[in-house]
Amino acid sequence: MSSQPRLLPDELSQRRAVTPLSRRALLAGAGAALAASPGPARADALSTSAGLHDHALRSGRFYGAAIDQTILATNPTYMAHVPVECGVVVSEAAFKWGRLRPAPELFYFAPADALMRYAEQHALALRGHTLVWHEDNPPWLAERLTSAAAAERLLTTHIRTVVRHFRGHVFQWDVVNEVLWLPDRQPLGLRDTLWLRALGPRYIDLAFHLCAETDPGAMRFINEFGLDYSWPDQQRKRAAMLSLLADLRHRGVPVQGLGMQAHLEAGVHALDQKELAQFCADVAALGLNIVITEMDVRDNRLPAAIPVRDAGVAAEGRAFLEVVLESPALLGVVTWGLSDLRTWLDEAWPRTDGLPQRPLPLDREMRRKPLWEAMAATFDAALPLQK
Ligand code: G3I
Repeated sequence: MSSQPRLLPDELSQRRAVTPLSRRALLAGAGAALAASPGPARADALSTSAGLHDHALRSGRFYGAAIDQTILATNPTYMAHVPVECGVVVSEAAFKWGRLRPAPELFYFAPADALMRYAEQHALALRGHTLVWHEDNPPWLAERLTSAAAAERLLTTHIRTVVRHFRGHVFQWDVVNEVLWLPDRQPLGLRDTLWLRALGPRYIDLAFHLCAETDPGAMRFINEFGLDYSWPDQQRKRAAMLSLLADLRHRGVPVQGLGMQAHLEAGVHALDQKELAQFCADVAALGLNIVITEMDVRDNRLPAAIPVRDAGVAAEGRAFLEVVLESPALLGVVTWGLSDLRTWLDEAWPRTDGLPQRPLPLDREMRRKPLWEAMAATFDAALPLQK
């Protein structure tokens, strides 16, 4: 096992545009159900041109998406499009404590393993999300955090077991997720979570050290939302993130990158491109990489008309990507979902008119949208990454 972090795995950099021939092979692999299915699920619904990952690869970067495994297992059209568009996948759910740890002594890997196998079959790289989070934890966890020693044992066992299980398969880990929440008024702007209460800020150090010891070859990220816009809360959060990252680096904690979730919102906030560019430069100056880990664009403040919404979503995505793709630290972009068929936004931020949102590159029929075009064009215009 190499101890060098896998910046861009071989399977990412060697991948070429999906050709009609390989697409036929892909469809054959997707099973008889696809060939036999009527309507939009037919093979010819697939585009013949390069996918988003192929566009991202032109500058040495990657594109990927969070996968809903229920849809992946039951919808052949979705299944066929993922490898056309993506070079990287991440599970929306299966790697979280809530799914992996149904009982204190039990690790349940089956759904996560299924995505790992799917990724390998299609030469996709796998991100791991996430080892430590304050949400989606099993009900038993809080009851077991009775002392610092108990918390340290639990965290140690979890990270060692999970990272060892996926060693050589997961190329990047979101080691800690959403650790900042300034309204909680904790030191460094940290969020008041069960882990902070049990262990203090050192739970972050511990998580990174454990991940690094267990799989030195996987790149380690701190993943956070709300770092995008220029309103005071987000400005303060960016400053807190820079201080936290500087502190971690100064103390030799083995963090290697910042995951910017980029849950964007169309037509509401001003995106100050200069401020965003400065933030990326500040992160890079700390010697860290950046990945856009959960990009989507909420449209619930836009009018119902689809062309208006799609144009607003595309413009917002383009304005954001234009800036971050200028950064030599930016390794790749992941959207939180591939198709509007499945987005957490419909549950978390439903439109008042009841219409489903259109925040992702493909529509519900897996057709490319203006956001897809904006992403492909922005990827094409990006300066190549220095190897
Ligand atoms: O699978 C069950 C299903 O059996 C049940 O019928 C249904 C009833 O509500 O719930 C289903 O599980 C839900 C799951 O999403 C799948 O839809 C969970 O209740 C729900 O908590 C879970 O939400 C996920 C959330 O993280 C918590 O894990 C969202 O899908 C997922 O998009 C969201 O992702 C987060 C990132 O991890 C971190 N950043 C923010 C992002 C959006 O919240």
